[in-house]
Amino acid sequence: MSLRNIIIHPDPRLKKVCAPVSDITPDLRKLADDMLETMYDAPGIGLAAPQVGELKRLIVMDCVKEEGAALRPMALFNPEVTWVSEETNIYDEGCLSIPDQYADVERPAEVRVAWTDWDGNRREEQFDGLWATCVQHEIDHLNGKLFIDYLKPLRRQMITRKMVKLKRERARM
Ligand code: NI
Repeated sequence: MSLRNIIIHPDPRLKKVCAPVSDITPDLRKLADDMLETMYDAPGIGLAAPQVGELKRLIVMDCVKEEGAALRPMALFNPEVTWVSEETNIYDEGCLSIPDQYADVERPAEVRVAWTDWDGNRREEQFDGLWATCVQHEIDHLNGKLFIDYLKPLRRQMITRKMVKLKRERARM
């Protein structure tokens, strides 16, 4: 496994609609492994393939938060939301591509998601709580959408300006 570089917003690769994957090849499993390692290292609870420059429909996540609980690394290929609850939840969201910026985002509280797993089998599961927020946030990435796209334009522009500055500072290091 190896760590991948996480792309920081703004970047055209974060605005693209990603292509579905066909077969779950060893290369794709390696990508998913690398993404999980990169996510745990960050640390974060979710990561989408475009955030490491791969414009493919693949997300990874692990929202287990309890101290000492077993990890639950998940890799979802071609994930699709098949149902959303009417009830909504507001979470203070962040994103590894937008470091140190957080904002409240309202989303359906529960979602049902279908995806292809490591072994190429189609699966479906219902998510709630942090898992529901995370899976929707990550699937958004596959459609070129960021959590700041839910904010008012002024707030979004402010965050984007901070990121441009951050990237300039990092480039100088
Ligand atoms: Ni994100």
